[in-house]
Amino acid sequence: MGIPKALLLAILGCGVCLCSAAVLAARELGGDDELAMVARHEQWMVQHGRVYKDETDKAHRFLVFKANVKFIESFNAAAAAGNRKFWLGVNQFADLTNDEFRATKTNKGFNPNVVKVPTGFRYQNLSIDALPQTVDWRTKGAVTPIKDQGQCGCCWAFSAVAATEGIVKISTGKLTSLSEQELVDCDVHGEDQGCNGGEMDDAFKFIIKNGGLTTESNYPYTAQDGQCKSGSNGAATIKGYEDVPANDEAALMKAVASQPVSVAVDGGDMTFQFYSGGVMTGSCGTDLDHGIAAIGYGKTSDGTKYWLMKNSWGTTWGENGFLRMEKDIADKKGMCGLAMQPSYPTA
Ligand SMILES: *[C@@H]1O[C@H](CO)[C@@H](O)[C@H](O)[C@H]1NC(C)=O
Repeated sequence: MGIPKALLLAILGCGVCLCSAAVLAARELGGDDELAMVARHEQWMVQHGRVYKDETDKAHRFLVFKANVKFIESFNAAAAAGNRKFWLGVNQFADLTNDEFRATKTNKGFNPNVVKVPTGFRYQNLSIDALPQTVDWRTKGAVTPIKDQGQCGCCWAFSAVAATEGIVKISTGKLTSLSEQELVDCDVHGEDQGCNGGEMDDAFKFIIKNGGLTTESNYPYTAQDGQCKSGSNGAATIKGYEDVPANDEAALMKAVASQPVSVAVDGGDMTFQFYSGGVMTGSCGTDLDHGIAAIGYGKTSDGTKYWLMKNSWGTTWGENGFLRMEKDIADKKGMCGLAMQPSYPTA
């Protein structure tokens, strides 16, 4: 089905409307599928406002797009035929190779050897049986709308902010969108290095030492490292933070029943890159490289237990920006390592 590169370039060179000569040429070569794919790429570019610097770049991106679409379609076909509980979609990351995706959308990698100072776990004595069956902190007004980190590897800031917004709402009754950018620009201690990565516990330490975190509107997000503007007006304060006992989903459930929790996961797999809906199940890595927030849990009608997560990749990813991941799996580390390093701020 492959068509010569020169012809492909000619087709791609047509812009949004496919010129009939190229259409005919591709038809003659049996390139109907290829044509449909070219049209699909064009449509996708419009939808996501993508502009390429030249035709060579565009031709290269088309090949990546095509490979990703094929991967997504074959995954979804297998999902429909078998018992896979989630599906993938051609989202805004469809013209990125998995390596490129990892490089820009996730952390450089959480330090697996980071020494955690024991913090205590205030929810230890909650009875699992007494916890609600379903928790969704959105319905309690403790979750701000989905944000988008853009081309900056500061998921750690978004994760820490989501947990902080949650505990501030629970303790004060007021939901305020808080500033990731203040963390990116001003929090340069421990593992925290702006767009080059960081860790949520270090973000909590900064917020405590800084006397709070300012609002999103007071210190808006720019998706790049910047000069610290010391914008804090103490809009949101926390007293401390605690680590949920590691590799213990029951402990995590006690915490998430009590407040939104920061969670580190391995978000680098292609299934994560293109997750579109359902409960993510099956194999997943545990090399932690992405920070998200657990904002609830529940069970589907077919009995699959899940964690409800808030991500920071905009609303065109996942379930309007949210994600469900299988809960209480055999591996103690949890799906994609979600039970390895959860933590939360305290008020
Ligand atoms: C849990 O219960 C034990 C035994 O009653 C008690 O010693 C401990 O302080 C409690 N932990 C918390 C975090 O409340």
